[in-house]
Order: sequence, then C-alpha cells, then structure tokens
Amino acid sequence: MTATPVYIVTGASRGLGFNVAKRLLGQASKVVAVARTEAGMAQLAEEFPGQVEYVTGDLADYATGEKAVKVAAEKFGGIDGIVFNAAVIHPVATIANTDINEFKRLFDINFFSILTTLKPAMPYLRESKGNVVFVSSEASYESHFYGWEAYGSSKACVNHLAATLAVEEPDVFAISVDPGVMDSAMQAEIREKHGTNMKQDHIDYLNKVKEDGSIPSIDPPASVIVSMVTKGPAELNGTYYAFNSPTLSPFITA
Ligand SMILES: NC(=O)c1ccc[n+]([C@@H]2O[C@H](COP(=O)([O-])OP(=O)(O)OC[C@H]3O[C@@H](n4cnc5c(N)ncnc54)[C@H](OP(=O)(O)O)[C@@H]3O)[C@@H](O)[C@H]2O)c1
Repeated sequence: MTATPVYIVTGASRGLGFNVAKRLLGQASKVVAVARTEAGMAQLAEEFPGQVEYVTGDLADYATGEKAVKVAAEKFGGIDGIVFNAAVIHPVATIANTDINEFKRLFDINFFSILTTLKPAMPYLRESKGNVVFVSSEASYESHFYGWEAYGSSKACVNHLAATLAVEEPDVFAISVDPGVMDSAMQAEIREKHGTNMKQDHIDYLNKVKEDGSIPSIDPPASVIVSMVTKGPAELNGTYYAFNSPTLSPFITA
C-alpha cells in the first residue's frame, strides 16, 4: 500500500464515478480521474487540492487508460485500487439491426479499455495487494433486456474478467458490482434516445420511476463500491453481486 492510498476511477466526470471519486477523496485518498469531459474532474481537483490528477480523454483510445496508470505511478507513487466505472449504453438495437462499428466502439469503452488499463497497472496492484471493482449491470446475465445485446454482453465480459483476475492474480482482489438503476445521465439517455428500440414495458418502467421520483439514488451503490475498492473481503474475490444483494447490502453506508 502507498503511504496515502491511490485510486484510479474511470468515468469520474459525473454520475456514479464522480460520487465514488468524491467519497474516496473525502477519506483523504488520492484519485486519478478519467473521462472525456474536464468540468466534473476539475471541480474535484479544486475541492480537494493536491489529491486529484485527471486524464481527459476517450477510453476508446487505449492510450487514455495507459496514461492514467502512468500518472498514478509518477505523480502519486503507485496504485491501491481501480474502479472501472466508465461505460456507454449506445447502441441499443436488435441483433438484426446491429451496426457492427457502433457495437465495437461500445466494447472498446466498456471492455477493451479495461484490459488495456489493467495490464500496465498489474505490477502496481500486485505490489499494493490492491483492489479492483468492475461496475457491471443486471443486463450482464438477464436476457429480458430487449435490444441491449451490446451493453449486456460487454457487462458479462466484465463479470468474467473479475472471476479470471481472482484466479490469476492471488495478490489482487477483484469484484464485479451491479449498482442497479440510478438517477444518472445514462438513464436520461435511455429515456430520451433509446425507448423506441426497447420493449414497451421496460421503457415504461424506467419512465415511471423517474416521473414518480422513486428512481434510486447513486449514493448506496457508490458507498458499496468504495468499501470494495478500499478493503475488498477475500471471500468475495472473483464474484459478481448486486449492490443491494444480501451479500453486499451490509456494506451500504449512505
Ligand atoms: N445508471 C444506471 O441506471 C446504471 C444501471 C446499471 C449499471 N450502470 C453502470 O454504472 C456505471 C456508471 O454509469 P452512470 O449511470 O454513472 O453513467 P453516466 O452518468 O453516463 O456516466 C458515465 C461516465 O463514463 C464516462 N465515459 C463514457 N464514455 C467514455 C469514454 N469514451 N471515454 C472516457 N469516459 C467515458 C462519462 O464521462 P464523459 O462523457 O465525460 O467521457 C461519465 O463520467 C456504468 O458502468 C454503467 O454501465 C448504470
């Protein structure tokens, strides 16, 4: 472990990633934030002087994740944990209507950028006996998400990555966590852009929870993810759970 714990959080410009990064910074950790939009990350840097470095870039360009590892090592002296949170939902389309280039771009962001970031990070994670959290989704195993093949299969890959990492790297803790439906920009995009390519009952449900105010807050899953990336319990190594499952709900702190 580094003197002050150091974490990389991808997709830290807003939503779940921003919330997780802020919680880690509140615990006096150091964070390397990654996203395409600078504003949210610059806000964190201003609020927590000396604790934040950020890499502004597209994770579909593998150099972005590699740069985050380099920045963590050179500016902060190592890596104690990574939260692989950045992801996109687009394209939502049936298999018959798949645009392979859009499908591949989603995989570059949601999956391949994780592999290309993990590889150079591994020596640092081994040294620190670090923790890795993959942000997953119920769509990773449920087949009722009509039109969500690209997103769901990328999240299934992420679950498998956690399981494989646990087998291959005895000094590194890995877990895949489903944060559940949350009131974020991704949900707004689903409601505004993708409803016509989804089953009516699914988009009706997502519209309803927003309209009636019952859409869940980001805070509970963020608190579980922070627990996992700071001190993942060995018995959960390599697993996938929903944040509010009986296994992970005891870690909800807010
Ligand atoms: N919201 C839900 O209901 C829900 C449900 C289950 C699982 N999840 C998962 O939870 C995680 C967080 O989602 P969220 O709801 O917080 O989504 P969000 O508000 O859309 O945030 C996504 C984050 O990823 C970053 N990102 C997206 N594309 C990127 C790219 N090409 N390069 C670099 N960064 C990129 C975004 O930053 P920039 O746009 O600035 O690049 C943003 O910071 C995701 O893994 C998502 O799959 C969400």
